[in-house]
Amino acid sequence: MSLKSSITGNTKVLCVIGHPIAHSMSPIMHNAVIQDLKLDFVYVAFDILPEHLEKAVEGFKALGIKGINVTIPHKIAIMKLLDEIDPLAEKIGAINTIKNENNHLIGKNTDALGAKVALLNAGFDIMEKNVLIIGAGGAARAIAFSLSKECKKIVILNRTEQKAFSLARDLKKIATIPIEGKKLNEQHLKQYLFHSDLLINTTSVGMAPNTNTILIPKEWLSSHLFVFDVIYNPLETKLIKDAKEIGCKTLGGLDMLVNQGALAFEWWTGEKPNKILMKNKIIEFLNLKQC
Ligand code: ATR
Repeated sequence: MSLKSSITGNTKVLCVIGHPIAHSMSPIMHNAVIQDLKLDFVYVAFDILPEHLEKAVEGFKALGIKGINVTIPHKIAIMKLLDEIDPLAEKIGAINTIKNENNHLIGKNTDALGAKVALLNAGFDIMEKNVLIIGAGGAARAIAFSLSKECKKIVILNRTEQKAFSLARDLKKIATIPIEGKKLNEQHLKQYLFHSDLLINTTSVGMAPNTNTILIPKEWLSSHLFVFDVIYNPLETKLIKDAKEIGCKTLGGLDMLVNQGALAFEWWTGEKPNKILMKNKIIEFLNLKQC
């Protein structure tokens, strides 16, 4: 597959860094829209070990890389190596996108708005809703902060209780709504599922290759819930399949992925990418992989 017909001495480089990185869908969706818009950019992936992160950041400047997406495990560690952090990303405590403006590296979090736009586009109105978030990692932080102004209440349940507490504590600094952080266990799950309008899985449970694993048995779900799973591989997780069977409205992780990518792309290039094309390229790729 030729990514770009004419890479020249002028071609500008965008990239994603993470470890591991081979599974990333970002090169697929970004190169598709680079070609579509006939821009002189190319998007590549770099597998960066945590101990090489500082050198990698120096490398962005030395090589003049224009834009960088950041994924696991670097979303927090990289913040202290940048020249400027956007105020929302500072509050969230994680970034996923960097723009290189004349060797001044600015970090942003487009996961936050990406998730909110995905929910709105899926027809879920977050105003005055009770939200239950499973997990307290980077994705949970971005989503919780993005919803904390409009919804009625947020409950965070996490396997490691301490991380649920610390996310709840950080959220309380900016939110005026009730926030609770608790241990992920059967009692809390049943109790809060009953009182929630929106359930969001931000953990990796159910992600390929362990596609049959779940944290929430199907019997505990009920049709009043809107279920959002941030996992996009598989496109439909066991949780989403179970929720659909119960009669819940659902949203998989692909739209959040595309939205955060589109926001980053527009920030770097000044051009609005075709999100349907980005989404279709990923679906095509994942379906081919399954064959
Ligand atoms: P991300 O940036 O994608 O959110 P992360 O920061 O590594 O990734 O967070 C992963 C989340 O999934 C964490 O909340 C993690 O729980 P812990 O804080 O206890 O580690 C959660 N998670 C991962 N595997 C899990 C499992 N088998 N059961 C429950 N929670 C799990």
